[in-house]
Amino acid sequence: MTDIRSPLAPAANEADLLTATVAFRHMKDRTQADSEILRARRASYKRELPRRVLAHLELLKGDTEGYLVDRYEHSLQTATRAYRDGRDEEYVVCALLHDIGDTVACFNHADLAAAVLKPFVSPENHWMVEKHNLFQGYYFFHFTGRDRHARDIYRGHPGFEQTAEFCALYDGAAFDPDYQSLPQSFFEPMVERVFARPVWGPNGRPHPADQGR
Ligand SMILES: [Fe+2]
Ligand SMILES: [Fe+2]
Repeated sequence: MTDIRSPLAPAANEADLLTATVAFRHMKDRTQADSEILRARRASYKRELPRRVLAHLELLKGDTEGYLVDRYEHSLQTATRAYRDGRDEEYVVCALLHDIGDTVACFNHADLAAAVLKPFVSPENHWMVEKHNLFQGYYFFHFTGRDRHARDIYRGHPGFEQTAEFCALYDGAAFDPDYQSLPQSFFEPMVERVFARPVWGPNGRPHPADQGR
């Protein structure tokens, strides 16, 4: 077997790299050969991201928490309503995934969903997902001792109207057990395309939300 750690050895092919492991046990001992292995295996892992994201979507199945639909059906319904309303693919994917992560971030799921989407969507769509829970609060915060107008701190922000509209037309409307949602399989090719390559962040353009930090 080729010793891919030797500086004199020919470059390992990609298939070899995908089954190789590093030798170091402390990062200080990492070598160029180790880095080649990790680059190849990380690239492979990243290509599987859409599958893992969809698996997280499916984790929303089950407990309705008292609503008439569970959060999985709510997500499909939000995306279906956006799709049938003629929204573009990126927007529809944001609608589909806007609640993922509620399983482990049930106090701030919007932050988690927005973080997952951030490298792949426009700043406007990212902002919409990140702020959707605050904007959805317009419909219920006053029942829980909070200010339903809390979203107004963002009045004048370029994303305000889009996010208010998202809640009014899609997110807020997606609690109907009689609505005929499209299946997850319908949206999967869209998720594959949107997550095909990051356009913002470390591998793309600087994201406006990161400017000035
Ligand atoms: Fe939400
Ligand atoms: Fe939602």
